[in-house]
Amino acid sequence: MKRIVIFASGSGSNAENIIKFFSQTTTTKVTQVLCNNEHAKVFERCKQLKINCLHFNKTEFSTTDMVLNILKNNADFIVLAGFLWKIPQKIIDAFPNKIINIHPALLPKYGGKGMYGMHVHKAVKENKEIETGITIHYVNANYDEGAIIFQAKTALNDEDTKETIAKKIHILEQRHFPSVIEGIILEREMQ
Ligand code: GAR
Repeated sequence: MKRIVIFASGSGSNAENIIKFFSQTTTTKVTQVLCNNEHAKVFERCKQLKINCLHFNKTEFSTTDMVLNILKNNADFIVLAGFLWKIPQKIIDAFPNKIINIHPALLPKYGGKGMYGMHVHKAVKENKEIETGITIHYVNANYDEGAIIFQAKTALNDEDTKETIAKKIHILEQRHFPSVIEGIILEREMQ
């Protein structure tokens, strides 16, 4: 049984989708959700799904080994699902190529510090892009720069607003993220 720990900072729609997906499998389970924002909606979702969701602060994340120790005890893979803090080097070193992030744009476009959620969709709209999409990638020490695993695109038109772009992205995330994670885990098992 492979164990996933999810990091989230906000609504948690991706966390919920991943938890539900793996609750239907016998090979992989989400063991824990970790959240840096105590007001995040992800806590309510986890309560409904009966998955432990634990809040942590910057010190517990970066200075002490509290979060690292939770990961060492509960995770084979780490999934960032709308998580907005940079991952400390010691966690990257402990989980080489085992930390997976989703970004709501076609990286390398619209990545980097400050590029998250609606900020991304607003920039995509302002630049009159004719398409956008999602990128699932491994995490390294720099925001949104790790190796790309998967991308999916969606077409945009003049009528799209940042809100309709967000909806199109949400559909792609719900459709693809869990199965891409499953594919990575299965592939690793065969190596
Ligand atoms: C998702 O769209 C995810 O791609 C994005 O935040 C949203 C979280 O939604 N992540 C980033 O922007 C990371 N740079 P959720 O909390 O409902 O899963």
